Amino acid sequence: MAPHDAVLGWDEDTTAEAYDAFTREFPMYGTTSRDLARRAHLADSRLIVDLCGGAGATAQAILELAPATARVISLDNAAAMQRVGRRTLNDPRLTWVTAGAEDLGSHVPAGQADAVVCNSAIWKTDVPRVFTAVRTVLRPGGRFVFNIGGGFAGVRHDDEKSAHPGPSLNRLIHHVAARDYGYAPPPTRPAAPKLPLEAVTAHLSSAGLDLLDAEVVAQHGTVAEKRAWLSIPLFARPDGDFTHAQRMDILAKAYALTTPDAPTVTSWLTIVAQRPE
Ligand SMILES: C[S@@+](CC[C@H](N)C(=O)[O-])C[C@H]1O[C@@H](n2cnc3c(N)ncnc32)[C@H](O)[C@@H]1O
Repeated sequence: MAPHDAVLGWDEDTTAEAYDAFTREFPMYGTTSRDLARRAHLADSRLIVDLCGGAGATAQAILELAPATARVISLDNAAAMQRVGRRTLNDPRLTWVTAGAEDLGSHVPAGQADAVVCNSAIWKTDVPRVFTAVRTVLRPGGRFVFNIGGGFAGVRHDDEKSAHPGPSLNRLIHHVAARDYGYAPPPTRPAAPKLPLEAVTAHLSSAGLDLLDAEVVAQHGTVAEKRAWLSIPLFARPDGDFTHAQRMDILAKAYALTTPDAPTVTSWLTIVAQRPE
């Protein structure tokens, strides 16, 4: 069975519309995008790549910091995400390219990009191929800035460790699904993180990129935000043979068992790399 968060799922209008609405109503993707754009040092940039740019939340953060004369290329392989982005983000500096991150080198001239920024996506790509492509398009001294979800990087910020002592919304979803739908979660072994810092460091080095900084960053939200995120079809739980309507029924019942304003914390491993001068 394809993983629940399969890349194909991004190329569906329901997910693209729901994702875009989420980025407008809740701060998570805007805040992480602004953080990455700031670390990319865009003040004197002429060409910036928004890698796996989706519906444009990261492009918007880049455009806010980029010079008026800069060009921004937002590249993503999900046409549905970009359709939403084209409709909602109009800036003459921005070009949308529908392509895989692995094919970046076919869409950006070698050595011309001042920065490549990738928010909330790099672990979904073929990382060694993408890092090599990024090295090719960056100018000497150009920055590559990206983040990795804490679970995929195997990191937890101290704020996350000490937050929200009650059961998580995910756990309550499993509880309700078991109670009302006879759901039996598949047996899981603790999975090894998909892209820990050691692997990032090795892949950067193989691609000829220098690691400048690695920082674990906390993103603060609420259970209400988590509920909205879990309403996006691609992220809805539980896995398995459920309709979206059933998942939303389970989510509503699980949410009713929470305190909506309770704070939640997610962790991100944030990386700044550079093509050597
Ligand atoms: C969580 S969204 C992030 C979008 C945007 N950066 C933001 O912060 O809102 C992940 C995006 O990665 C894209 N993606 C995943 N794998 C990709 C790949 N190999 N090549 C290009 N895009 C990819 C998906 O299509 C999706 O739009």
